[in-house]
Amino acid sequence: MEPAIVLDRVSKTFPGAAAPAVAGCSLTVHAGELLVVLGSSGSGKTTLLKMINRIHEPTAGRIVVNGRDVLHTPVTELRRGIGYVIQQVGLFPHQTVAQNIGTVPRILGWDRRRIAQRVDFLLELMQLPPAQYRDRLPRQLSGGEQQRVGIARALAADPPILLMDEPFGALDAITRAALQDELLDIQRRLKKTIVFVTHDVDEALKLADRIVVMEKGRIEQAGRPIELLSAPATPFVRRLLGADNLLQHLRVLSVRDVMEPRAPARTAESGPAVTAGTNLRDALSVLLQIRGEPVPVVDEAGAPVGQLRWEHVMEAASGGRGAARPGTPGRPAGGLAGTAATPRASDEPVRRGEEAGAG
Ligand SMILES: Nc1ncnc2c1ncn2[C@@H]1O[C@H](COP(=O)(O)OP(=O)(O)O)[C@@H](O)[C@H]1O
Ligand SMILES: [Mg+2]
Repeated sequence: MEPAIVLDRVSKTFPGAAAPAVAGCSLTVHAGELLVVLGSSGSGKTTLLKMINRIHEPTAGRIVVNGRDVLHTPVTELRRGIGYVIQQVGLFPHQTVAQNIGTVPRILGWDRRRIAQRVDFLLELMQLPPAQYRDRLPRQLSGGEQQRVGIARALAADPPILLMDEPFGALDAITRAALQDELLDIQRRLKKTIVFVTHDVDEALKLADRIVVMEKGRIEQAGRPIELLSAPATPFVRRLLGADNLLQHLRVLSVRDVMEPRAPARTAESGPAVTAGTNLRDALSVLLQIRGEPVPVVDEAGAPVGQLRWEHVMEAASGGRGAARPGTPGRPAGGLAGTAATPRASDEPVRRGEEAGAG
């Protein structure tokens, strides 16, 4: 499958600027992937994003979206295929929620019934009951609800690509977490290609299939969260992601990555169990509750699929199997296995072993 977006040595220097805002960035975004661009303020994230939908044009390099050079694609056509969500949602204040969401379909000349159906579908998708929300004005919505409507509007014409620039930055922690979960759910259901910009490391680790770390206009490293944690390419990436912190590693791995896929000795009914999709940080709490005994792993339907041992978690935390061969079953070895018999609830950072493979 052709990549959704390709950036080839892209640079942007604003007129009169001493240094480029984006400098020689090359990047491929695969179709259906949720790619997070992570970096501190001023690192060039927004500039990079805005070159993809041609709000800015690169001063050097090439950007290809769905196989076509963006500079050779009419802007309206390009943007029809790209939804764009920003922090200040930018809803039209005097239009209802339904009118806001229907903006692009109206421009595209859809008939009223099709637009109304699409609006209701998207409101349902965003957990906003249509009957309740359709006719409200933006000022009658909370910040989180406005952001949901903003996302619905971006999805209205079903664009294959979604660009999101710190979309949840202004929300409180609980609303933000809820919207992150919803975005992951939408991603799974609609299989959009999403480029998501944030300066929040936790948000990046939670959402990303892959993370691109930017600093001073350059890409420091790109890779799966666990790759960046296990083998940070630069001291900056190591510090930024907290790669020395055991718990960071655990939260980007799931039980399915490290479990033993075989029938558990104990059945799920006889005690606590974890689902295969649980992250290892949460699974660790369960293991601690039952003092490090193997815990049965079940699928979404509750059927047993394997078991999780303390050693599996410890090995993954030390950059072992989970990092090197995701999803590969096998016997735990090395890592922190020597100390694994004693569960510790401690939060302290743990140095990774030699086998972690950091360069
Ligand atoms: N329209 C613009 N004109 C001039 N300079 C800009 C413009 N937009 C951004 N910059 C500069 O480019 C650099 C990167 O900015 P930006 O891409 O917004 O970073 P980020 O989104 O990571 O905070 C900053 O130094 C910023 O001041
Ligand atoms: Mg920005």
